[in-house]
Amino acid sequence: AATTDSYRPALHFTAKDTWLNDPNGLIFHDGVYHLYYQNNPVGNVWGNMSWGHATSTDLLTWTEHPVAIACDENEDIFSGSIVHDRHNTSGFGDGSTAPLVAVYTSAFKPGSLHEGVQAQSLAYSLDGGYSWTKHGGNPVLNRGSAEFRDPKVIWYDGGADSYWVMVAVEATDFQVVLYKSRDLKAWEPLSTFGPANATGGVWECPDLFPLPVDGDPENVKWVLTVNLNPGGPNNGSAGQYFIGDFDGTTFTSASTVTEGLQDPDRLGDYQWLDWGRDYYAAVSFSDAPENRRLMIAWMNNWEYANQIPTTPWRSPMSLAREISLQARDGELCLVQQPAGDWTALAGTESLHLSGTTIDDGVQVLAGAAGTVQRIDVSFTPGGAEEFGLILRGDGTKGTRVGIRPGEGTLLVDRRESGRTDFHDSFPSIDSAPIQATSGSYDLTIFVDRCSAEVFAQDGQVTMTELIFPAETSTSLAVYAVGGTATMNSLQVAQLG
Ligand code: FRU
Repeated sequence: AATTDSYRPALHFTAKDTWLNDPNGLIFHDGVYHLYYQNNPVGNVWGNMSWGHATSTDLLTWTEHPVAIACDENEDIFSGSIVHDRHNTSGFGDGSTAPLVAVYTSAFKPGSLHEGVQAQSLAYSLDGGYSWTKHGGNPVLNRGSAEFRDPKVIWYDGGADSYWVMVAVEATDFQVVLYKSRDLKAWEPLSTFGPANATGGVWECPDLFPLPVDGDPENVKWVLTVNLNPGGPNNGSAGQYFIGDFDGTTFTSASTVTEGLQDPDRLGDYQWLDWGRDYYAAVSFSDAPENRRLMIAWMNNWEYANQIPTTPWRSPMSLAREISLQARDGELCLVQQPAGDWTALAGTESLHLSGTTIDDGVQVLAGAAGTVQRIDVSFTPGGAEEFGLILRGDGTKGTRVGIRPGEGTLLVDRRESGRTDFHDSFPSIDSAPIQATSGSYDLTIFVDRCSAEVFAQDGQVTMTELIFPAETSTSLAVYAVGGTATMNSLQVAQLG
């Protein structure tokens, strides 16, 4: 196979020479961020599902380790989470070390005892997450369902009555199911949530966490995130979220549109973790420092995941993002910022412009070329119906990141982004609703060798997209359609 290392990201994790999908078992432990992931240890398409493993101390550079939990003749190891069982509630500790406990989905194989069932199982580690032992009593939670998966376990702090809570999905029922346990082994049902809002595809990989509103510890809300595939706002895989309350038993949300009232044409009214095509299976870290809520997603889409033109590796993870909850215009929303240690990677500023008029047409910017960049740009509309940047370009061709002020949309147009021929649905124009802030549109864009991640409105709207430009497509241009616009400022920093 041809080498495609010009697509190998600089700032995003990829497995060296194998396939990956969902991030699993994200946890910060003993000063190290652990990223486990759905991995085919012997191939670069989905299969032989096992948990791969990588670690980082800065969330930008990752070290890959041997497979952590491997499939065997009985089960594939599907997605799940890890908790630090500080008080050894599970009894897996050895008297001196409190265990890390992985809660994962056993997808039982044909011919095995639980053939065709998906149930929840445990494995534990006493060496800080590097080697794992499967629990002899697996599975620990079996509903006899073929679509019961992706457990995320949290410690629910109810004072004297504190316990473990699991959120998982009945995927084809569009339902999050909540369970409770005191020892991670015996689970009792608490409640269910859904179907609600977007139900155009199976629900997968849920998460549940508290966040202070505008940083106020006296005003805490709970966030339930759930990924769905397909049925995202721009086709295929995506993640939606609900803001509400959790009382230790039930999650309730005022933003819930329930069964029968959902309208597949109103996806734009729901709240999305990301509006791009390539941000799926997003889930947050356990025990992140300073109560930060950090998320990573798989940067791919099941529509074409197995066909993206890279070898021997396939699929990057997204950048890690810090999530916060803010009240904006009277509505609560999640706001996201890249979370890595960017100070260590400040980059060299290669261009800094201000107060530039963008004429109708395309203008390539001198001194702005690159393949791994952070771009900060601010626009004010003029008469143009659309304006923006063309990145990883070849003059006028490239990936367009634009604004249509009349429509109030942010768009990523990757029809001329480079290689698009590997799947019919890849060359797309994708959009998200966006509002001007004090008359201007401010974007921060992280460009890597096969991706662009756009943070708009200070992180309220994000769009993450894969692109496969030629190695030589490095230009950055501005463009306007049908009139002019003003670029208030532009900063380009070369990274990686
Ligand atoms: C989401 C998903 C999960 C499942 C895993 C299998 O992408 O389908 O629901 O656990 O991938 O690899």
